[in-house]
Amino acid sequence: MNKTNIYQQRRDALAKQMLSKTGGGIAVISTAPELARNRDSEFPYRHDSDFFYLCGFEEPGATLVLKVTSHGGLETHLFCKPKDPEREIWDGLRLGPEAAPEILGVEFAHSNQTLDQKLSELLADQEAIYIRLAESAEADRRLRHWMKQVRGQARSGINPPSQLHDVETLIHEMRLFKDAHEIDIMRKAAAISARAHVRAMQICKPGMREYQLEAELLHEFRNSGAQSVAYNSIVAGGENSCILHYRAGATELRSGELCLIDAGCELDGYASDITRTFPVNGKFTGPQRALYDITLAAQEAALAMTKPGNTFMQPHEAAVRVLTQGLLDEKLLKLAELGSLENAIESGAYRRFYMHRTSHWLGMDVHDVGSYREPIENPSKEDKPWRILQSGMVITVEPGLYIRPADDIDEAYWNIGIRIEDDAVINNSGCELISRGVPVKADEIEALMKS
Ligand code: GLY
Ligand code: MN
Ligand code: MN
Repeated sequence: MNKTNIYQQRRDALAKQMLSKTGGGIAVISTAPELARNRDSEFPYRHDSDFFYLCGFEEPGATLVLKVTSHGGLETHLFCKPKDPEREIWDGLRLGPEAAPEILGVEFAHSNQTLDQKLSELLADQEAIYIRLAESAEADRRLRHWMKQVRGQARSGINPPSQLHDVETLIHEMRLFKDAHEIDIMRKAAAISARAHVRAMQICKPGMREYQLEAELLHEFRNSGAQSVAYNSIVAGGENSCILHYRAGATELRSGELCLIDAGCELDGYASDITRTFPVNGKFTGPQRALYDITLAAQEAALAMTKPGNTFMQPHEAAVRVLTQGLLDEKLLKLAELGSLENAIESGAYRRFYMHRTSHWLGMDVHDVGSYREPIENPSKEDKPWRILQSGMVITVEPGLYIRPADDIDEAYWNIGIRIEDDAVINNSGCELISRGVPVKADEIEALMKS
């Protein structure tokens, strides 16, 4: 299927939802704003994921409007920056509204300078408008302006919309299920990231700094065609490995310590998200190895539960059980105090060493969209159950253990922070791990670092 058909199909699917919810209406989805870094220098531009999902257009300054009639007809309008030879010399070529219909497969395209006027026309006599609720003060201001324009025509017999709906919820439910085109890109993104982790492990040696390994990751990402990182890379040596959202800094990587790398590239709008933890000098110490093997066993237990029909929480519960048993075995949790494995889990005692969830959705965004609860129509009737995993969903599986210095902890375990994270595509029978291009077993990591 060609790309414009994919986006057309997604717009059709959104239109269908609008039709069944409110008998049609107007949906307005803008892309992300450009952000100043300082003076006239900007942060690298990244489109809005929902917007991109529906039209595949990467330029800033664009808005997509879907008009769905009560008969189910769909008209797509794209508003984009007009051609401007003078500005294009400085900022790069623009597609422009003249070429957009042919290239993007939308019915109508207009200069973004006509957005306010056109929206006031499009909203006339529409029952429902679908926007992102509370997106920004600017979006609210624009909506007020359009509504005011339409209300101003009341004496001509024109009515403004009377219903406001959140368009995000509808799009995010669609984005939760990846199609073959998306999974194909995600496989490639994960393969690039895995290679970057291999490169970092091979190059790492005591005395290097965290930012030097970050540079190796970036080299592999960009050299492989990935446009960007999917999130700021974590390269954490020694005690930094126990800081969950640490950034690669200037800390020296020291022999005898661990290095935790959580890094993934973004390829063609899709994220990958891999964590590996390895010994800076290429050989795990006894306590490091013990905790590493527990974390890996926890990941394996979680992966065994990562299959269709299970809930989103089942992999997490499986990981917690293995991690907690491991913490008891290593005497980091005291059986004498806790009484039993069950109590160590129930009481949340393990959270001192494992304080995050095992999984999150992965897709266009690293912490991707989609409800973690089953979409039940009338939630007041019962608590919403955790989401049932289904084929086409993509999740990370990332257990960890983080041991900070404390009086009641054997010093041999201090500053051991371990996380092992892979990306799993749920299929009909279980899951496909798409990030295993980098070794995960302790022996294999040691062998790779030795080579
Ligand atoms: N890299 C962010 C996460 O693992 O959730
Ligand atoms: Mn993650
Ligand atoms: Mn991660």
